[in-house]
Amino acid sequence: MEKSWLNLEGKVAIVTGGASGIGKAVAQKMAEQGMNVVISDVNPAGQEVLKELCGGPQKHLFIMTDVTKAESVENMVQKTIEKYGKLDVLVNNAGVNLPRLLVDPKDPKGKFELKEKEFDLMVAINQKGAFLCAQAAAREMVKRNSGVIINMSSESGLEGSEGQSCYAATKAALYSLTRSWAKELGKYGVRVVALAPGILEKTALRTEAYEEALAYTRGITVEQLRKSYEKVSIPLGRVGRLSEVADLVCFLASDRASYIHGVTYNITGGKSRG
Ligand SMILES: NC(=O)c1ccc[n+]([C@@H]2O[C@H](COP(=O)([O-])OP(=O)(O)OC[C@H]3O[C@@H](n4cnc5c(N)ncnc54)[C@H](O)[C@@H]3O)[C@@H](O)[C@H]2O)c1
Repeated sequence: MEKSWLNLEGKVAIVTGGASGIGKAVAQKMAEQGMNVVISDVNPAGQEVLKELCGGPQKHLFIMTDVTKAESVENMVQKTIEKYGKLDVLVNNAGVNLPRLLVDPKDPKGKFELKEKEFDLMVAINQKGAFLCAQAAAREMVKRNSGVIINMSSESGLEGSEGQSCYAATKAALYSLTRSWAKELGKYGVRVVALAPGILEKTALRTEAYEEALAYTRGITVEQLRKSYEKVSIPLGRVGRLSEVADLVCFLASDRASYIHGVTYNITGGKSRG
């Protein structure tokens, strides 16, 4: 068989949050490239996603994982090594977003003011989860002097976002962790990179509760919010496709990106709130 340009055949990747949205699109694209894919998610729907992957459940694995729990993450990496004997790529993609205001003068301590529990949940999944997974994966990667860690940040991380301060802060943390881990792990042959998507086609993250909360924090109706997705100034004139994010992840996972390290790629169609 002729080798593809990306030459990802036979490589092993864990995709956290792989049961849905971007993670699922990444898992599908990686499977099409001949990779062995581990879908890691708290959502049992990951088991169903396996059936849709090129190569099916014989080739790929679903591991029920809560990225906020160290034992669960260690189990994820251990099971991966048991089946494939190595780990080449970790995609730190699991994430949540609860739009909330710092203070709501119209409804102090009300439904849409950021609560301590909500803050802790976003930090636990988006930031601590990325740390636990990166640490468990890097322990294996440094042994083989090879590997790639890819963090799913967000354009809001550097730009900030009205009504999403905590979420954006967790994504800014991923920019920083990417740079620092790159400095620590480069000498062991492990690359660390990140992506910062802007507005994409709909995923499970955009629930009715999410839209209601985000619209409220911006003083507009849900209808106006939905229209704003199209109206927002994106130089390419459209929202991004999940498959476009997956293409970038596959490129960064491949040896074609062998000198790319410690940086976060914006994938926003040119949009910046700057
Ligand atoms: N959709 C966008 O427009 C967009 C833009 C920028 C960044 N992102 C980021 O991309 C990533 C994926 O988002 P998405 O839009 O595909 O959302 P999604 O809700 O469709 O997928 C997120 C996945 O993470 C899983 N997850 C949540 N908590 C978990 C936990 N504790 N352990 C393991 N898995 C857990 C969920 O079950 C889900 O399958 C997130 O990190 C998000 O912040 C998304």
